[in-house]
Amino acid sequence: MKTTTLGRAGLGSSEISTVALGTWTFAGDAIWGESREQQCIRVVHAALDHGINLFDTAPNYGNGRSEEILGKALADRPEALVASKCKVEEQSPGELRKMVTDTLRRLQRDTIDLMQIHWPAHSPQQTRRALEIFSTMQQEGLIRTIGVCNFGVYDIKEENDFPIVSNQIPYNLLWRVIENEIAEESRKNGIITIAYTALQQGLLSGKYKQLSEFPSGRKRTRHFSPSWPGVRHSEPGMEAQTQAALEQLLAIGKSQGKSLLELALAFVGSKPFIDTMLIGARTEEQLTSSIQAAETTLSADVLQALEDATEELKKATGGNPDMYQSNSRVRYTGSDNTPRR
Ligand SMILES: NC(=O)c1ccc[n+]([C@@H]2O[C@H](COP(=O)([O-])OP(=O)(O)OC[C@H]3O[C@@H](n4cnc5c(N)ncnc54)[C@H](OP(=O)(O)O)[C@@H]3O)[C@@H](O)[C@H]2O)c1
Repeated sequence: MKTTTLGRAGLGSSEISTVALGTWTFAGDAIWGESREQQCIRVVHAALDHGINLFDTAPNYGNGRSEEILGKALADRPEALVASKCKVEEQSPGELRKMVTDTLRRLQRDTIDLMQIHWPAHSPQQTRRALEIFSTMQQEGLIRTIGVCNFGVYDIKEENDFPIVSNQIPYNLLWRVIENEIAEESRKNGIITIAYTALQQGLLSGKYKQLSEFPSGRKRTRHFSPSWPGVRHSEPGMEAQTQAALEQLLAIGKSQGKSLLELALAFVGSKPFIDTMLIGARTEEQLTSSIQAAETTLSADVLQALEDATEELKKATGGNPDMYQSNSRVRYTGSDNTPRR
C-alpha cells in the first residue's frame, strides 16, 4: 500500500495510506441495507493486512453502530488512525461535546485521531463555534487533530485560522466539482484532501449498466430527479448526462480491457490533489479488488478520455459541491462568479 506524507499537522503518524476505509456501509441502514457485525470486522482486519491505516466513521452511520463495530475491530490496534465526524447544524456546545465523548466511548479510545465537521452549518458562525469547541477539546487531549468535510472555497478561506488538517469531500468521475476551486484552495492552505464516494456509492463499480438498475435508496444525489424518495434538492436531476457518461465510461473500459471499477478508482488515485481516497467495502473481496483498482496506473490518453466522457456531466453539476442539496451548505463560487454562502 502506498502512503502519503501529511500536510501541515500530523495525525499521530507521519504518513497515511493512499486508500482509507470508509465504514458508512456498516450502518445497516435504509441506504445500505443489512450489515453483519462479524463480516464488517473481517473487512477492517483485511484492510489492516493490506496496509490501510486510516478508518472513517460517524455517529450518524446507523446511530452509533458503525463506530461501535469499528471500536471492536480496532480494540487491540491502537496504532490505526480513526476519523469520525459530527453534525454541527443546530447543535449546542454541550451537544457537540457529548457527541465527541460518545464517539470516544463507542470507539473505545481516549482520544480521536481526526475529528471532523460532517457538513458546514448554513450559518458560518455556527461552523466557527464548532471549530472553537473542537480546539478546546484538542487542548484537553480528547481530539488529536481537527478536520472538516464538505468545505467550499470560502469555508476554507474564512476558517483558516484554525489548525484544520484535512477536507473530506466527494470526488469521482461522476462528481468532479472540486476541480473548479476547492482542490487548489486546500493545497494553498496546507489542508489534505480526502476523497469520498470514489465509486459514487457503487454506481461506478461496473455492476450497473443503466441508472434504472441502481438501488432506489441511493438515488438521493443531485444526479437524480426529486421524484425519488429521500431526495432533498429541487433541481430537475442529471439522469441523461449521468447515463450518457456511464455508457461512455463502460465503452472506454471495454476498449482498454479495464473494468469500470479500475477506471474509476485509478482516475481518483491519479489526481495529485487527492491525498487519500475513502473506499466503502462490504466484503474482503470488494476491498481487495478496490485496492488493486486504486493502485492501477492509467495512461495519459485513457485519463484524458475519461475526462472527455464526463465533461458534459461536470458542466451540468456546476459549482455547487453539495451533492444532495440545491440550498447548498457549502460556500462556493456561483456560475455568475459571486460567492454563494
Ligand atoms: N463526509 C461525508 O459527508 C461523507 C459522505 C459520504 C461518504 N463518506 C465516507 O466515504 C466512505 C465511502 O463512500 P461510500 O460508501 O458512499 O461510497 P463508495 O465507496 O463510492 O461505494 C461503496 C459501495 O460500492 C460498492 N463496492 C465497493 N467496492 C466494490 C467492488 N470492489 N466491487 C463492486 N462493488 C463495490 C459496495 O456497494 P454494493 O455492494 O451494495 O453495490 C459499496 O458499499 C463512507 O463509508 C464514508 O466513510 C463521507
